[in-house]
Amino acid sequence: MSRDGGRVTHEPAPSDDPAADGWALRADGLTFAYAGGKPTFKDISLGVRPREIVALLGGSGCGKSTLLRVLAGLQPPSAGSMQFLDQPLTEPSPRSALVFQQASLLPWLNVTSNVGFGLDFARQPKIARTEHTRRVQDAIDAVGLSGSEKRYPAALSGGMAQRVALARALARQPELLFADEPFSALDAITRAEMQTLLVDVVHRWHTAVLLVTHDIDEAILVADRIVLMGGRPGAIVREWQVDLPRPRFADGAAVAALRLDILAALQGQRTTATMTTESTI
Ligand SMILES: Nc1ncnc2c1ncn2[C@@H]1O[C@H](COP(=O)(O)OP(=O)(O)OP(=O)(O)O)[C@@H](O)[C@H]1O
Ligand SMILES: [Mg+2]
Repeated sequence: MSRDGGRVTHEPAPSDDPAADGWALRADGLTFAYAGGKPTFKDISLGVRPREIVALLGGSGCGKSTLLRVLAGLQPPSAGSMQFLDQPLTEPSPRSALVFQQASLLPWLNVTSNVGFGLDFARQPKIARTEHTRRVQDAIDAVGLSGSEKRYPAALSGGMAQRVALARALARQPELLFADEPFSALDAITRAEMQTLLVDVVHRWHTAVLLVTHDIDEAILVADRIVLMGGRPGAIVREWQVDLPRPRFADGAAVAALRLDILAALQGQRTTATMTTESTI
């Protein structure tokens, strides 16, 4: 392991895991513009390996959420191609799942029904009732909500609600979890708990993650690889393979070095963006 833990690479490091040979998700030359506007991001190529946790980091408004929605198949790109599990991606896949900043639970359904909600929708693979029940309970147990199955959303704290949202995603047994700032509305302690829980459950579920965040510490704590997005239009400007052993933050000096490197790159992006803006005024 390199001392700074932040070896700069443009491709994920080779893995010993044979399942990690290919890509879970692969995008090439992605460009996206909202109707009638300039491109939000341009010519982005990005991959996520099976079981890999990738943090997409960047300043507010640089296009992270837009890129995540395009990669999840929710919005078609203006140009470029995407493959998910070696198939062309043109719509959301039932083998991926999403978690957002708001848990978006249905208030009239209890925890069990919220977690199971949508599992039997037409687009989802057909599963037997017993399998449905087992998956829902396994997911509830995994996020530490055993005993709260009968509670309704009004009786849940913000952290518990986000655990339900995570369980709902896990019950789909996704190959890839898309998460857009899922913990940013939580207090610091609950947030730290959820970050640790996320890593724990996706490791156990063998799920890859693409996590959008603007929190450097969250990225360092959670990710195997950090991808920095910036510029106008948005582009991938730098990547760090995070080789630090887990749990992270045990090696304070290495974390601090990586943090400073990322912060400098982020601030460099901001300066460039400001100069670009000023020069066009
Ligand atoms: N539906 C929309 N129509 C038009 N423009 C949009 C739309 N949604 C976002 N934008 C614009 O696209 C750009 C990128 O927005 P996006 O939400 O992807 O950024 P972000 O990096 O996720 O920001 P934040 O960190 O604040 O969540 C912004 O300039 C935003 O105003
Ligand atoms: Mg966003």
